[in-house]
Amino acid sequence: MSKIIDVGISLDQKYQITVGQQLPQSFKAYCQAHYNRNKIFVLIDENVNRLHGEKVATMVSGFENTHVIEIPEGESSKSVKQWNNITNKILETGIERSTPILAIGGGVTGDLAGFVAATVLRGVPLIHVPTTLLAMVDSSIGGKTGVNHTTGKNLIGSFYQPDAVFSDIAFLETLEQKEWVTGMAEILKYAAIRNPDLFEVMEELIHQPLTPKKRWSEVVEESARIKIDIVQKDTLEAGTRAYLNFGHTFGHALEKVSGYGEITHGEAVFVGMIAACHFSQELGHPVSDVRFSPFLSLYKKQMAPLTVDTEELLDAMKSDKKVKDNTIRLVLLNDWGSPYLYSCEDHSLLHKSWRYTLDKLNK
Ligand SMILES: NC(=O)c1ccc[n+]([C@@H]2O[C@H](COP(=O)([O-])OP(=O)(O)OC[C@H]3O[C@@H](n4cnc5c(N)ncnc54)[C@H](O)[C@@H]3O)[C@@H](O)[C@H]2O)c1
Repeated sequence: MSKIIDVGISLDQKYQITVGQQLPQSFKAYCQAHYNRNKIFVLIDENVNRLHGEKVATMVSGFENTHVIEIPEGESSKSVKQWNNITNKILETGIERSTPILAIGGGVTGDLAGFVAATVLRGVPLIHVPTTLLAMVDSSIGGKTGVNHTTGKNLIGSFYQPDAVFSDIAFLETLEQKEWVTGMAEILKYAAIRNPDLFEVMEELIHQPLTPKKRWSEVVEESARIKIDIVQKDTLEAGTRAYLNFGHTFGHALEKVSGYGEITHGEAVFVGMIAACHFSQELGHPVSDVRFSPFLSLYKKQMAPLTVDTEELLDAMKSDKKVKDNTIRLVLLNDWGSPYLYSCEDHSLLHKSWRYTLDKLNK
């Protein structure tokens, strides 16, 4: 059984996200209905190709010509160099404006392949097939594509919407525990900013083996619905889309200071949410970070002790691309499910929240 979520970015930009288990047939039917199936470029994470190459071959078997380009695993692939390599390969092979690019992998592949699709011939059709939990609940939705620059993450890119997203949770069968836990952070974020019931569902799920099953499909679907709802109201991140950054201003600083690759995005966001909760509580809002306690040991188990310095974390927060006039914009919680934007000028409270959070993680 699969579920379809309709996305309406604008009147002429509509697409569907299909969530379910084993979607090759839906994917094939979609391609048959929408493309001439002369040629397709498959940009695929190297591990996904190794583990699921046969399944992917079945998915694209309706195309006359399939060109597979493997993307080396890891954040370092999200680079101008890789974008250039792939674009060269595609242009040298030959591509038309109607030739689709299929992005299969986690957020790294999705962001990079999405940016290739956005830029080659000024934009060709893009289909996302996310294969990590994080990519299913977050990065494949919302149209952000791009690569990193030596001066920071995601500094080069564009908003580019896909033609379709197929979130086939059967891919998660081979996902390592660390990546499950990384993706969970974004689901806990949706729990915090929109649907607190997800906290209970997630608590139930972490006490069972991490394998793709119906309950996970429901969680992926609910997460996608929440993200879509927020993104649809603010496609270009002018206002309320910022709620999706709950925990992220803190988290990005931690990623930067720890060194990218030392801590996963999801781990950093989890830590950041505890800090944001503490900050909210200090302002008098009834949101105890105890809500995150059932998940704490999962993160502590896979993360090295946080040896970072609060002063450095603060400097990193001040240098974030979203900071204006030394005022750090935070997403805080009035209550569970009720986020708001806060302009933080009193940096001593930030210090306090960081100290509290680092103590909690290192205990
Ligand atoms: N565009 C957005 O809106 C958005 C949102 C959040 C995060 N991101 C970006 O997403 C990236 C992180 O994404 P990620 O966490 O998916 O990491 P990732 O793409 O690096 O994937 C994590 C690991 O899982 C492996 N993998 C992928 N699918 C697998 C599968 N089915 N089975 C086994 N292994 C598999 C990959 O090879 C990799 O080693 C970051 O670059 C982040 O900036 C983008």
